Amino acid sequence: MYILGQPVLRKETEEISADYEGLDELIANMFETMQKAEGVGLAAPQVGLPIRLFVVDLDVLSEDLPEYKGFLHAYINPQIIETSEETETMEEGCLSVPGIHESVRRPISVHATYMDENRALHDEWIEGYAARVFQHEYDHLEGKLFIDHISALRKQLIKKKLLAMTKGQYNCGYKTKVNR
Ligand code: NI
Repeated sequence: MYILGQPVLRKETEEISADYEGLDELIANMFETMQKAEGVGLAAPQVGLPIRLFVVDLDVLSEDLPEYKGFLHAYINPQIIETSEETETMEEGCLSVPGIHESVRRPISVHATYMDENRALHDEWIEGYAARVFQHEYDHLEGKLFIDHISALRKQLIKKKLLAMTKGQYNCGYKTKVNR
């Protein structure tokens, strides 16, 4: 896992082709990395790859949210076409920013296109918790992190923690790429 301070998290990402070498294996590895870290989403830049790909596992939430039973998907070359005007605030965290949780305001639904793990193309409105995670992961592909959305005041309050993080001072229960 790449952690705040590493340039790949802020890089522009590139679209990939459906026959990108080793794509199925990469998707499987990303699911494994995400599940070991107990995350619900993981974007390619978080494993050091500046490409437009992320994976989402909402199945882990299905005890509370039964509609997400079996929800394990990869999103290849996703694009956001439009978003709802209505927004909501929800607490977010990120495997690349361990130990930080902040409220983030986002649209409640997004109209998106993407290719899934079976290379099927989708053009749909994504809603609910799936829309929240989709937007968080999509941000990663734009070199953005959830902490970019918080207020200047909140940012000021966690500034020291973030700075320490970029110097390798953080705690988390999964393997990370050490900042040097
Ligand atoms: Ni994240």
